[in-house]
Amino acid sequence: MKMSKLRLKDFRNFTNLEIQFADRLNIFVGENGQGKSNLLEAISLLSLNESFRYADNENLIRYNQSASLIEGDLEKNGLDFKVKAQILKSRKNVTWNDKKISQANIRNHFSCVVFSPESLSYIKEASDERRTLIDDAFISVDPLGAGLVAEFRKALKTRNKILRDYSDEQKDKKSTLSVLESIEPLYLNLAAQLTMKRIKLLFDMKSEVQKAMTFITKKDVDILVEYRISAENYLQKARELSLEQINNALYQRLQQLRDAELSSGSSLVGPHKHEIVFLYDQKDSRFYCSQGQQRALILSFKMAQIVYYCKLHGAYPILLLDDVLSELDFVKRGALIEFLQSIKTQIFLTTTDLHLPEELRMNQSRVFEVKEGRIL
Ligand SMILES: Nc1ncnc2c1ncn2[C@@H]1O[C@H](COP(=O)(O)OP(=O)(O)OP(=O)(O)O)[C@@H](O)[C@H]1O
Ligand SMILES: [Mg+2]
Repeated sequence: MKMSKLRLKDFRNFTNLEIQFADRLNIFVGENGQGKSNLLEAISLLSLNESFRYADNENLIRYNQSASLIEGDLEKNGLDFKVKAQILKSRKNVTWNDKKISQANIRNHFSCVVFSPESLSYIKEASDERRTLIDDAFISVDPLGAGLVAEFRKALKTRNKILRDYSDEQKDKKSTLSVLESIEPLYLNLAAQLTMKRIKLLFDMKSEVQKAMTFITKKDVDILVEYRISAENYLQKARELSLEQINNALYQRLQQLRDAELSSGSSLVGPHKHEIVFLYDQKDSRFYCSQGQQRALILSFKMAQIVYYCKLHGAYPILLLDDVLSELDFVKRGALIEFLQSIKTQIFLTTTDLHLPEELRMNQSRVFEVKEGRIL
């Protein structure tokens, strides 16, 4: 999988740009605020259909313009594709070889993994961020992942609306309970499926995460992941867990929290409430780990995701690294570069430092100097 060319029109601070990429390593170098991360963002928009940082369509379109166009030439399994994303204020239109493609399908076609300052803070942020981390990994490895996550979100939205209408006194209790009952089998089914997929993914990836952590820190650190449903760690029993068991557990919980859901006006049961906790030497990483240790943990998770993806698909995803090297200490930086050398994939990296480490040299690499929305 690789991107050979990128064209931008009125995207962020780029007016018109065409770049030809190297097959292996592409480095965007420049001062702060010049457009380096914007270039990674354009690549992630083509492959994930969303930015890796918070941005709505209006932020992506160059100031005072009405639309952006991002085009990429991609190669996958020896086949060439032209991908286009037109961004309007109200929507995005994405085409592959001039055919419209749904959001869920985009991620199946082209996979990329992003390390960014944002993703490196996932450990200490709210649990929502860790759920996103796991769902992103699940979506990238499982062809049905994006569809399942989208369907669950839709069902959750519907269910929340029903509960909110009741708490806003727009609907009475009897009719609310009856509508809830009618949609609950579908809701529970999607909730249980997504929960099961997450648990299975974490179980399958756990030895890779441990291996990556030892590799990146060069220390014997014990990493455990817990998947908690109402405080109980389900990852412990992943091996014998069935979809039916999860469905039943969620159903029981729904019965217990029925009144609380009605009065709060939102769904309190489902994968959007499950806790994912990383234990670092048996201690909760959210409260115990330093910033650097938390970064190493996320980095290990992403490295494990890349290796796991390759095991399943026989090829590595594209890698986007935004400002990552400068955030790591000497040992971790060296280990990350060693890892980058070992995986045979196309890498895009941003840095403010013109003096790149010697070890980062690869055949087939290009350095692009970015200044004020242009490549010098
Ligand atoms: N919609 C937009 N239209 C025009 N310019 C924009 C738009 N959105 C962001 N910018 C500009 O893009 C620049 C930021 O680009 P980017 O985030 O890529 O910087 P960077 O080179 O990665 O910097 P850093 O090293 O600080 O991370 C800023 O100058 C910002 O004003
Ligand atoms: Mg940046």
